[in-house]
Amino acid sequence: MTQQGPKYLMLYSTTDGHTKTIIETMAKQLTDENGARCDVADIKDGGRYPLSQYQKVLLGASIRYGYFSSAFHEYVAKHQGELNAMPSAFFGVNLTARKEGKNTAMTNAYTRKFLTQSPWQPQLSGVFAGALWYPRYNYFDRVLIQFIMKVTGGETDPAKEIVYTDWAVVRRFASDFAALPLTVPPRPPTPEQRRGKWASGGAVQWALALAGVSAAVLFGRRMISSKRE
Ligand SMILES: Cc1cc2nc3c(=O)[nH]c(=O)nc-3n(C[C@H](O)[C@H](O)[C@H](O)COP(=O)(O)O)c2cc1C
Repeated sequence: MTQQGPKYLMLYSTTDGHTKTIIETMAKQLTDENGARCDVADIKDGGRYPLSQYQKVLLGASIRYGYFSSAFHEYVAKHQGELNAMPSAFFGVNLTARKEGKNTAMTNAYTRKFLTQSPWQPQLSGVFAGALWYPRYNYFDRVLIQFIMKVTGGETDPAKEIVYTDWAVVRRFASDFAALPLTVPPRPPTPEQRRGKWASGGAVQWALALAGVSAAVLFGRRMISSKRE
């Protein structure tokens, strides 16, 4: 009888294809080194891959003009319950992560913002420096990226194609993903859940206070009118 390896779902959100390349690189490593069976797909087609059929899930998404794609956010919002209930991981891809001090999930502004606001709290998170492919961009994008790179001290030569991704970091992340335990420990409430709890707690306190004041006013009026009688 042949031993079957773990089954992983790996979804990517990409515009220029680099996030897909990163996730395919990880899928190859997981297959070669861990005997994993990896389904790699565009997150737009994520609905075709029921999460219940997988032992782990990995989502990777790139940044464009400050934002992850709406397809990525929609997938997370729709599947947050299942994602939180299984071993899961997330990585972001952007050019800011090429810089020291902005290259971890919690020091990169895009991934930090996502993780502090997301209803999904993956067990493993990372961020990878992306690619700069001036000749492939349209005029508008090229000029804007040139401007941003100039401001941030990066490459501005429009003939250049540079991949900043540190493949050793990608490789380590894939190994960490393989090492995630198959059971999900009970987790503390997400920042959003905490805010929700606090907000509803606050609403209850407001309602109680209002009811208390109304009762006091009614009682006071009764007292005054009974004294007059
Ligand atoms: C039009 C455009 C806008 C971008 N906006 C940002 C940005 O706001 N912040 C950033 O750090 N990187 C930005 N990048 C860099 C991309 O995140 C990077 O090129 C990444 O490798 C793209 O991945 P993808 O090919 O999977 O879409 C931008 C790139 C392009 C072409």
